[in-house]
Amino acid sequence: MKKISERIYYIGVNDDTKTLFEGLWPLPYGVSYNSYIVADEKVALIDTVEHDFEEEYLENISQAIGDRPIDYLVVNHMEPDHSSLTAYMLDKHPQMKIVANAKTVPMLKGYYGIDESRILVMKDGDRLSLGSCELIFYMVPMVHWPETMVTWLAEEGTLFSADAFGTFGAVNQDVVDSEGTFESFRDEMMRYYSNIVGKYGTPVQTALKKLAGLDIKRICSTHGPVWEKSIGEVVGLYDKMSRYEVERGVCIAYGSMYGNTAAAAAALAEELRRLGVPCAIHDLAGNVNPGLRVSGALRDVFKYDTIVAASPTYNNGIFPPVETFMKALQSRLIKGRRFYALGSYTWAGSSVNLLNAMAETMNFEILASGCSFAQAYSPEKCNVAEIATILKG
Ligand SMILES: Cc1cc2nc3c(=O)[nH]c(=O)nc-3n(C[C@H](O)[C@H](O)[C@H](O)COP(=O)(O)O)c2cc1C
Ligand SMILES: [Fe+2]
Ligand SMILES: [Fe+2]
Repeated sequence: MKKISERIYYIGVNDDTKTLFEGLWPLPYGVSYNSYIVADEKVALIDTVEHDFEEEYLENISQAIGDRPIDYLVVNHMEPDHSSLTAYMLDKHPQMKIVANAKTVPMLKGYYGIDESRILVMKDGDRLSLGSCELIFYMVPMVHWPETMVTWLAEEGTLFSADAFGTFGAVNQDVVDSEGTFESFRDEMMRYYSNIVGKYGTPVQTALKKLAGLDIKRICSTHGPVWEKSIGEVVGLYDKMSRYEVERGVCIAYGSMYGNTAAAAAALAEELRRLGVPCAIHDLAGNVNPGLRVSGALRDVFKYDTIVAASPTYNNGIFPPVETFMKALQSRLIKGRRFYALGSYTWAGSSVNLLNAMAETMNFEILASGCSFAQAYSPEKCNVAEIATILKG
């Protein structure tokens, strides 16, 4: 528990045991599920935390407000990492009302059997007085679920932003950011955005425009630190990523069974670095970097303007981890990227052509026909110096 201001308490928890967020995304530095209390004449809870943390959660609440009754539970977002203690909290506080929007109502019923009679339904811009201050609700659909809303507490300049501006990575005792916090979270924030929210760049842009008029002094998201000092950086990063804006550089994502495609990918990375081209390389089959795979590669796809996909031919197709990566790009509506494919085969190569075909579906600029080489990598079969020059542009 951490008191953040006169009225606001942080009552979130760190999850250091889960290894895969949403069953998919690695958590090398853990993740936090953030929940908050606004204690005024009335007491409002903003979201809850994931189940399994109920004891710590109740303890945090009791440290914050003792046994004061809770009047409202604001449900900004229904993904179970935040909502799975909703029914539990309703049982504990029989007088408490849920505050949510119309799209949330059937989800509360469907997940937790919660009856409409316990819900105060809010529309865009509606207000709820807590006494000396009021909560205002703004709908931000598809950031990253349809029911998502944010809660604005004007008296404190505080935006309870649901997953928006969230990041992977557990939070320290201070919770609120200080000098250097943003830089230490930047990579994990990019990975969180690209993995979880990445498909919804347009709705994020709509939400940013909608919230642009607010004089935000504090962002209380549902994952990661509370942002006070780095609001400009955090909002700027979300703005940049949701515009799919990138810098010159290369993200090499490869999969390899026996190391031949891997050798070509590594040689290309070395050549690019020699030329001074920023370059990240990701092993999608996890031999070198088992912690990140597609997840880390997606982060760098949101960073750099050029993608190199490298895959051996596998049963006349693309090696499955690389195909998964390409599908992850398609599903995130990645656009405006330069593209190059390479890969090893033994009797009839098809992976490079198939990768190019997938890149075409995303209207990528295919820089050259690619390099499909038989068996072992050698600079003669796959001229990485020439490829690096093409990629440098
Ligand atoms: C299960 C399996 C399926 C394969 N299918 C094909 C194929 O359809 N066409 C082909 O030319 N080579 C095929 N190969 C051979 C690989 O493409 C070849 O061994 C390549 O050099 C592997 O590259 P890597 O060392 O980067 O894993 C297959 C290999 C395996 C193990
Ligand atoms: Fe979510
Ligand atoms: Fe979340």
